[in-house]
Formats: sequence, C-alpha cells, structure tokens
Amino acid sequence: MTKSGNITVFGATGNIGIELLHHLSKAQLSTVAVTRDINKAKPMDNVRWIEADITDQASLQNVLKHGGTVFLLSGHGPAFVQQQKNVIEVAAAYGVHHLVKLSSGAVAQDSPFYIPDSFIGKAHGEVEQFLKSSGLNWTILQPNAFMQNWLGDLAVTVKQEHKIYEATAEGKRAYIDLRDISEVAFKVLTEPEKHAGKTYLLTGQEAVNFYDVAEIISEVTGKETGFTALSIAGARERLEKKGLPLIAIQSILAYAEAQREGKTAYVSDAVSTILKRPARSVQSFVEDHLAYFR
Ligand SMILES: NC(=O)c1ccc[n+]([C@@H]2O[C@H](COP(=O)([O-])OP(=O)(O)OC[C@H]3O[C@@H](n4cnc5c(N)ncnc54)[C@H](OP(=O)(O)O)[C@@H]3O)[C@@H](O)[C@H]2O)c1
Repeated sequence: MTKSGNITVFGATGNIGIELLHHLSKAQLSTVAVTRDINKAKPMDNVRWIEADITDQASLQNVLKHGGTVFLLSGHGPAFVQQQKNVIEVAAAYGVHHLVKLSSGAVAQDSPFYIPDSFIGKAHGEVEQFLKSSGLNWTILQPNAFMQNWLGDLAVTVKQEHKIYEATAEGKRAYIDLRDISEVAFKVLTEPEKHAGKTYLLTGQEAVNFYDVAEIISEVTGKETGFTALSIAGARERLEKKGLPLIAIQSILAYAEAQREGKTAYVSDAVSTILKRPARSVQSFVEDHLAYFR
C-alpha cells in the first residue's frame, strides 16, 4: 500500500492496464483491479480483482469506498464520457487522493498531434475538463499512437506479403511502446505529489515514417520488407473492404492526413525525464515482437 492507500486500476484487463498491474504487483503495492467480467481476472500477488461496470455508479461506490489513488482507462463507445465522469464523481465523493487519467495526444489544440475531428480526442477532452474541475488531484497522460497498433493488420501484411500499406506518405510520428506508458503510469501513481496538476505528452524517442519502419523490420527479421504509400482514397477503400465502421475509418484517415502533411514529427522528453532512461525504440519493439513480423 502507498501512504495514500490502495491503488485502483480501471482498464486492468487491457493492454496498458495488465502491464501496469505487473509493475504494481512486483512492487508489492496493494492494488485493486477492476473488470466487468471476473473470469478475465489474471491472478497476481498483491492484486485483488473486483467486478464493476463504470456505467453503474453504485458498483463504483463499492470499488472506491476506501479512497486511495486511481488509474482511469476504459474502452471507447457512445457512453465513454459519462462512464469516465461516473468514476471521477464517485472518486471525488469517496476522498480519492489522486486520479491519473489515460487520455490521448489528439486532445489539445496546441498539441502537435491535435486532430480537430477526432471523436476519441473530443471525448477525452471533455473528460479532462471535468477532471480538472472535480476538486481531485490529477495527472493526465496523453500518449501518441502506440507501436502495438502495428501488431494487427500491419504485421499480417508484413508476414504474408513483406509489405506495409499506410496512407501517411513520408510523414513521421514518434510512436510509443505502450510498455513505456504503463511504466510512466506506475511512477505517477506511486509518486503522485510530484506529478499533480501535470499533463504529459508521451512519445517514443524517434519520429519515423513507414519507410523507416520497413527498413527496421527488414533488418530485424532478415526479410526484405517494403512500404507501399497509399493515397487517402486508396486507404479508405482498403479499410471499407475490411468492414471497419465509418467512424473508425474517418478517425484513422484524419490521423494519416495530419501525418502526411508533416505535422506530427514532434518528440517529447516526458518518458525519458520520468523514467530516467530513453523511451523504447522501434528496433527494440520489433525485436521483442519478432514472432508477429516473421
Ligand atoms: N491505440 C492508440 O494508438 C492510442 C493512442 C493514444 C491514446 N489511446 C487511448 O488508450 C486507451 C486504450 O488503452 P488500451 O489499449 O490499454 O485499452 P484496451 O486494451 O482496449 O482495454 C480497455 C479496458 O477498459 C475496460 N472497460 C471498458 N469498458 C468498461 C466498463 N464499462 N466498465 C469497466 N471497465 C471497462 C476493459 O475492461 P473489461 O473488458 O475487463 O471490463 C479493458 O480493461 C483509449 O482510451 C485510447 O483512446 C490509444
């Protein structure tokens, strides 16, 4: 337990949450992990799983009645904003000491990753404002796009065709390995007073385009991989064929447009400052996930 009590993790079964739990468990900190389905719980030392749905304020009272420190992450859907507001409201009512919100780099107008029409960015932005006026101590983490996004369609085409298809042209972005986000979250949750009232834009250590990524994959896998630069129309057609919902296609293409226009090459030093080591590189990410690419 920290001096502020338990640490409660929402989004504990997700990509970032499960990594965060491993750090908290290893540090022997008393942790409450939340899931809507207790069958998904992964037993870990010092971690107590609890079933709750953030749609339901009553189930949150049971989770947050002991106060402590909270990490807030949840999946996107039409109820996202209200769900996250529910957590913030109940946390404030039960004397939670500090809340760390996982947000997105696309939120702020002055961010190099701002996407005006991003429904995800808008939703996170609304929750950020609500948190700032809640009376809670807070820290906001705004990550750039995750390298782990490449483990889906991109890895499939690399493996099957030795090709990457993206609509980002030569535009660069400092993709972040989400394991670094989990480590930053761990640091902030365990030393909250150092990070109170701060918003951190989190990126990887180098801005790369997909020519660079293809070259790194070629080197690491030993198999020549190329990048086919799609037009925006070509990417839309490809995504439509895959049956993605319109709202997801619009969001992916808005990110691609900003990148191909060269707006997104910014690299932040927040990860290296907080973790006192460089952010993980694309090369180390590919090496650690070799089975996906070869
Ligand atoms: N991908 C990117 O490039 C990128 C970039 C910047 C920011 N982000 C942000 O990162 C976040 C996603 O992180 P992730 O990949 O770690 O998430 P994830 O793997 O999709 O996990 C979502 C988590 O939310 C929980 N959850 C969803 N609805 C819930 C509800 N009603 N009640 C309680 N728990 C609920 C799920 O728990 P159960 O299913 O167990 O209940 C699950 O643990 C999003 O907010 C996204 O905007 C992503």
